[in-house]
Amino acid sequence: MDARQMKIKAAEAALDYVEDGMRLGIGTGSTAEEFVRLLAEKVAAGFRVVGVPTSERTARLCLDLGVPLKSLDELPELDMTVDGADEVDRKLRLIKGGGGALLREKIVACASERMIVIADESKVVDVLGAFKLPIEVNPFGQVATRIAIERVASRLGLTGDVVVRASGDGPFMTDGGHLILDASFGRIPDAEALASELNAIPGVVEHGLFIGIATLAIIAGPSGARILTS
Ligand code: A5P
Repeated sequence: MDARQMKIKAAEAALDYVEDGMRLGIGTGSTAEEFVRLLAEKVAAGFRVVGVPTSERTARLCLDLGVPLKSLDELPELDMTVDGADEVDRKLRLIKGGGGALLREKIVACASERMIVIADESKVVDVLGAFKLPIEVNPFGQVATRIAIERVASRLGLTGDVVVRASGDGPFMTDGGHLILDASFGRIPDAEALASELNAIPGVVEHGLFIGIATLAIIAGPSGARILTS
């Protein structure tokens, strides 16, 4: 089974949790897109759901495939969000934001009763941090914000490059008009402490540590899908 087939396997398993009439947060990334494709087939067959997309990219795919959408302001309380992740540990702590949608992903997931993560085995880690931690920052004062991030990281014993994400010749801009700093801290033994320190920096809009948000993960490997719960 190749990587794409594993993503499809996880997405298929997530579909079993979707009930007719649900208000659904819809994630961003290649795994979430497999979920959208499968969901669209069910919608075409008469299944009724309303989705709230976590990015413009996901919104476009949903509209192309006929998945009905509303904004989070129209539908501020959701039954469930289904989204991918860049890393997931055994306590269902996540790193997200590889696709740059972490702010909307976190807002939508936190407006949902449940968050189901769909991923292939390669995303499961013992300790978060091999994947560069995406940190969304306001463009104003980005250098001061980066220095503040490096200071709090250093207090927690974390070092590594903190680099502005690029796209073509310029910086990558999020749907909300912010920058992403990718932090190569390596292993993050105390993700809760780092999350709370990052939250206290004014220029940090949001970071990719999702702690206490996911309620279940569907992990697909070559021999099928398994469930992780916290
Ligand atoms: C988007 O910002 C991310 O949080 C994605 O959910 C994450 O990068 C997983 O993407 P893939 O499913 O493409 O690996």
